[in-house]
Amino acid sequence: KVVAVIMVGGPTKGTRFRPLSFNTPKPLIPLAGQPMIHHPISACKKIPNLAQIFLIGFYEEREFALYVSSISNELRIPVRYLKEDKPHGSAGALYYFRDRIMEEKPSHVFLLNCDVCCSFPLQHILDAHRRYGGIGTMLVIKVSAEAASQFGELIADPDTKELLHYTEKPETFVSDLINCGVYVFTSDIFKAIEGVYNQMRETSSNYNHFQYATRSVPADFVRLDQDILSPLAGKKQLYTYENKDFWEQIKTPGKSLKCSDLYLSQLRETSPHLLASGDGTNKKPMIVGDVYIHPSVKLHPTAKIGPNVSISANVRVGPGVRLINCIILDDVEIKDNAVVINSIIGWKSSIGRWSRVQANGDDNERLGITILGEAVTVEDEVAVIGSIVLQNKTLNASVQDDIIL
Ligand code: GDD
Repeated sequence: KVVAVIMVGGPTKGTRFRPLSFNTPKPLIPLAGQPMIHHPISACKKIPNLAQIFLIGFYEEREFALYVSSISNELRIPVRYLKEDKPHGSAGALYYFRDRIMEEKPSHVFLLNCDVCCSFPLQHILDAHRRYGGIGTMLVIKVSAEAASQFGELIADPDTKELLHYTEKPETFVSDLINCGVYVFTSDIFKAIEGVYNQMRETSSNYNHFQYATRSVPADFVRLDQDILSPLAGKKQLYTYENKDFWEQIKTPGKSLKCSDLYLSQLRETSPHLLASGDGTNKKPMIVGDVYIHPSVKLHPTAKIGPNVSISANVRVGPGVRLINCIILDDVEIKDNAVVINSIIGWKSSIGRWSRVQANGDDNERLGITILGEAVTVEDEVAVIGSIVLQNKTLNASVQDDIIL
C-alpha cells in the first residue's frame, strides 16, 4: 500500500494570487477547467495500491470540505483534508500528522507540493526509488541557469543518481538541476524529521534562545528543503529522478495561465474528447487550439475562442466575443463583441459590450496580465489593460497598468 500527501499551505502563502485568493484558496483556483490541486490528485489516483490522499494545510476546514467530498466520490478514493493549527513548515506538517499518514502502514509516502504543474510521473519515481533504496527519491529537472536560483539547486551523481549536494534558493549559482517539489519516501522520513526536532531541542536547551537567532523561523518549524534535504545529501539516503516532461511552478497568476495551457495540451494527448471543438458552423462557435468549456456554458455561435482558454460553469458568452489565452471562472457574463486576451476573469464578473480586457504586452510571465477579482463589472466600451481589479468594483472608464482597490 502507498499513500500520497499534498502540501496545500495556507492563506498567508497565496498572497501573490490576490485578488483571486481572497475568495478561494489558491490550490482550488481552476487550471484547464479543474482546481489546481485536481491535477496532482488525478495523477495519484493512477498509482496502483493507493490507499488514501491527504491534503495538509492551515486553511479553514470548511474551505476544502466541499472539494474533498466531491473528489473522493468522483475518484472513489478517500481524500482527506488535515488542518494544522498553525504552519509547521513542509516537513513539520508531514510529521505533525505522522500517525494519520501511517495509519494503514503504507510502504511508501508520496509528497507533492500543490503549486507545481507537471505530468507527475509518480510510478516512475517509485520504480526508481525501489532500485536506488534509501529514504527517498525526488523529482528533479534541468532549467536555465538564470531560472535556477528561484528553486532548490542540487548536484546528483550522474551514475548512481544519488543526491550529493542541496542548497535552497542559493544566492550564487550551484547547479541548473532543481527540485521539482515531488517526492517519494519510506517511513524513515519521519525518523529524519524527528532527528531534526531533537537537535533543535538540544541546541535550544544548551544555548537558550541565542542559537535561534541564526534560524529565521520558529522553533517548531521544520522545512523539508533546508532542514532535511541539505543535511541528508551525500549520505546515500536520497536519490533523484530526472523529469523529461513539462514542469512549472505556479506562484503567480501569470504562471497559472501558462500552466493551464500545459494541462490543456496534456488533455489533447490523454483525453482529447474533453476539449472543445467547432468551426463556426452548425451553431457551434469557432474554436482555435486547445480550449476547455464546461458543459453548462452558454456560447453564442458567432463567438471565436482559443487558443488556451478555459471556461468554467454557467458562463455566458455573447455574440461576436473573442477570447484568447484566458481563464474565465464560474458565472461570468461576457457581452456582445467584448474581447478578453491574456487575462483571468473572476467569478460572477461581467464584461460589457465592445469592452476589452487584456494584458499589456503578450508575455504571460511578466506581471502585465489583467486579473479581475470576484464580481467585477466592466461597463460597455471600457478597456482594462494590464491591470488588477479587486472584487466588487465597477469600472466605467478605461484603465491601464493600474491596481484598482
Ligand atoms: N501544510 C503546510 N504547512 N504546507 C506548507 C507549509 C506549512 O507550514 N509551508 C509550505 N507549505 C507548502 C506550500 O503550499 C507548497 O505547496 C510547499 O509546501 C512548498 O512550499 P515552500 O516551503 O514555501 O517552498 P517553495 O514553494 O518556495 O519551494 C519549494 O518547492 C520548489 C518546487 O516548486 C522548494 O522545495 C524548492 O526547492 C523547490 O524547487
